[in-house]
Amino acid sequence: MKLLTVIGARPQFIKAGTVSREIKKHRTIKEIIVHTGQHYDSNMSDVFFEQMKIPTPDYNLGVSSASHGAMTGRMMLEIEEVLHKEKPDKVLVYGDTNSTLAGALAAVKIHIPVAHIEAGLRSFNMDMPEEINRILTDRVSTWLFCPTDVAISNLSKEGFPHTSIHGVKQSIMKSGDVMQDGAIFYSNFAKKPEGISVPPDFILATVHRAENTDNPLNLSNIVDAMNIIAQSGKKIILPLHPRTKKMLKSIETDFTDDVIIIDPVGYLEMVYLLKHCSMVMTDSGGLQKEAFFFRKPCITLREETEWVELVENGFNILTGANKELIVDRCSRADSLFSSNYSIDLYGNGIASEKIVKQLAAE
Ligand code: UD1
Ligand code: UDP
Repeated sequence: MKLLTVIGARPQFIKAGTVSREIKKHRTIKEIIVHTGQHYDSNMSDVFFEQMKIPTPDYNLGVSSASHGAMTGRMMLEIEEVLHKEKPDKVLVYGDTNSTLAGALAAVKIHIPVAHIEAGLRSFNMDMPEEINRILTDRVSTWLFCPTDVAISNLSKEGFPHTSIHGVKQSIMKSGDVMQDGAIFYSNFAKKPEGISVPPDFILATVHRAENTDNPLNLSNIVDAMNIIAQSGKKIILPLHPRTKKMLKSIETDFTDDVIIIDPVGYLEMVYLLKHCSMVMTDSGGLQKEAFFFRKPCITLREETEWVELVENGFNILTGANKELIVDRCSRADSLFSSNYSIDLYGNGIASEKIVKQLAAE
């Protein structure tokens, strides 16, 4: 069976690292990897291929940064060409980026069935590009691998499974979360980031979502809140996404020296920081879950999350970009979060195995 995987953004490399390792165990599957080029800096792309030993992509489409339409359109054009050449039996996509949607649309339109990992997630906020990408990708996918019960229930409320796609009925499976598998596997390979001294008690922070970076008020509020927290004595380490670095230039406020800003780090360095931090503050989807995997409370700088089970069970608090809320929740963290991390929310580390087994069988 020839499986063509389309990836392009940081979180997809991290998920593919775990799934591709599982695919290699199946002699009956030949995986072709297509990198769209959406993320291209070496610390946003190459580092993950090296650290996680992901096979070098068979194709790099080099479609880097552009507006949504231009990026998605260029990707579709290039992916379609590769699909015609490779004639895969299935196309595999991850998550909710423009690379996900481009891969799914290019494939389904020429009748190649699509498998979607991280299906069924919803923020119910159609202003987010990710929400549009995930809804459309789910609708055209044949195999929908859902990480959580909530994801299964979201699909069911939307009337899934829908009628057959190319004669095959949509198949919905609760697989668990492949990022959980990765966190377990790579936990023993944590690597201290070079060039910084890591304080004993710090908050690990990331910010990159468009709703924060592209809204000057939100970005200023987040910067101000982090400055207040850091000035009050709590260290913050912030590996800065290139999008945020760029957008910081357009607002009047900036981080003070109390916030430790570093370039984006590799996954093994991230695992080290997750293991050693006392709390996570983020608007990332993946990092919210990783906070839970590494048993750290998480403040989420968004109004809503797709990972609602983290909030419902007391591991995650949503603050949006509200400066006062961020500072308050952070200062009262000791009493606000659950510490019952034994609860199973994302499967027990065998999501990739289940997914690849099903892909191999059908
Ligand atoms: C994308 C995804 C988002 C995901 C994030 C993971 C979409 C719509 N968004 O957002 O869901 O959470 O990736 O990190 O697909 N840039 C660089 N170097 C790079 C990559 C990006 O400088 O290697 C800069 C460019 O200025 C670019 C900007 O970051 O314009 C945004 O990149 P883009 O891929 O469009 O979106 P992300 O914000 O990374
Ligand atoms: N990550 C990383 N280096 C960094 C910041 C994040 O390896 O400097 C990892 C993080 O641990 C998680 C993934 O990137 O595994 C999350 O990706 P991101 O936040 O870019 O996207 P999202 O999950 O929000 O789509």
